[in-house]
Amino acid sequence: MNDEYKIPNHVGIIMDGNGRWATERGLKRSAGHAAGYKTLKKLAVHILNKGVKYLSVYAFSTENFKRDVEEVNYLMNLFVSKFKDEKDYFMKKNIKVVFSGLKEPLRNDVWESMQEISEMTKNNDGGTFNILLNYGGQSEIVEATKKIVSDVINKNISIEDINTESFSHYLFQDLPPIDFMIRTSGEVRVSNFMLYQIAYAEMYFPKVYFPDFDEKEFDIALDVYNKRDRRFGGIKK
Ligand code: FPP
Repeated sequence: MNDEYKIPNHVGIIMDGNGRWATERGLKRSAGHAAGYKTLKKLAVHILNKGVKYLSVYAFSTENFKRDVEEVNYLMNLFVSKFKDEKDYFMKKNIKVVFSGLKEPLRNDVWESMQEISEMTKNNDGGTFNILLNYGGQSEIVEATKKIVSDVINKNISIEDINTESFSHYLFQDLPPIDFMIRTSGEVRVSNFMLYQIAYAEMYFPKVYFPDFDEKEFDIALDVYNKRDRRFGGIKK
């Protein structure tokens, strides 16, 4: 038995409950998203400072476009303003910001602000912050499959080269598997989140809404992770 405190290499967070957090306070849903971002800004630095190398967060699923236009616009404007205003913050913290998701039908200003912050932070090596925006796990796998088929047709690779390891290089970002997935707000669902990468993830579903999932809550989550016995399909030694 190894008693060393374990730090997961890759943490994934489904940031759920912003809307309920706001509604319970008599506020508009948008206030919940603003509060969620405030939490995320500090939390991301805290998590990467703990030694986690990769943090993936679900900011906007492709399905979220079905929400009221007012809420969608609020979120898109929030993304543009934060990606523009917080570039220096992520530079100072030495964090590399990357994105996973599809370009269409994102607004041009949103896409450009994503390109700008990822370009500016691309050489930072204090941890990778992967933001899922206009993302869906099934479409990520489908897109990867299309790229692989095209590489086979163009004879860049042969069918024998395709395996679970090489497949992951074709996903939106080539990141290691998720070790620990957290979904706040008490909902116990995966909701199309990084389906390929969560194959062996430990999962944790705290009751708190995302705006209240602060550094202290993450440390509690880490303690839970440390009590888990990860076997990857094997048996306990
Ligand atoms: C889910 O809660 C949350 C979202 C769809 C948006 C998450 C976005 C943020 C935390 C802001 C991130 C900002 C940047 C710049 C990356 P919900 O609205 O579905 O909550 P509910 O289930 O209570 O309605």
